[in-house]
Amino acid sequence: MSEHETNAQHAAEPTRRDFLYMVTGMAGAVGAAAVAWPFIDQMRPDASTLALASIEVDVAALEPGMSLTVKWRGKPVFIRNRTAKEVEEANQVALADLKDPVARNANVDAAADATDLARSAGEGKENWIVMIGSCTHLGCVPLGQAGDFGGWFCPCHGSHYDTAGRIRKGPAPMNLAIPTFGFVSDSVIKIG
Ligand code: FES
Repeated sequence: MSEHETNAQHAAEPTRRDFLYMVTGMAGAVGAAAVAWPFIDQMRPDASTLALASIEVDVAALEPGMSLTVKWRGKPVFIRNRTAKEVEEANQVALADLKDPVARNANVDAAADATDLARSAGEGKENWIVMIGSCTHLGCVPLGQAGDFGGWFCPCHGSHYDTAGRIRKGPAPMNLAIPTFGFVSDSVIKIG
């Protein structure tokens, strides 16, 4: 094998770090998690990476209004840096108007109300939302920045989620689930 061939082979096998970086670039360019997802699925890393109990994602490149979809334990996870307007819209919703009034956030009390704060990354990080991208009806992957409430929309049977990922209309029974996660630095989120 020539030296040229060896280099080409090496270049074709990105490390996991390169993979996450490429994904970030892609999501930034298209600004829509739903479009990015098939790309990621195609570029899936090897089985050992998929099986990782937790992943760390650098979100420094995500400006307000941008989203990123990563794969964690075989599922898509939506990470969105919400705009102030999106946070405000979610804040204005009365709990009584919610179809599912429970936060469904693995990081807060299981009985916590689905306030926008309880659905977000918490105090000082309210703009960040991290959710498992699996519709709570039958598991389709919802589209971002879509639907009647400007959040996520599942086209399979028409479930509309708001900007806090709470189910507002359609057959899905629960808010999009929030996995265990936290910021391990200013710009790195650890999921799992
Ligand atoms: Fe999403 Fe049915 S799977 S509405």
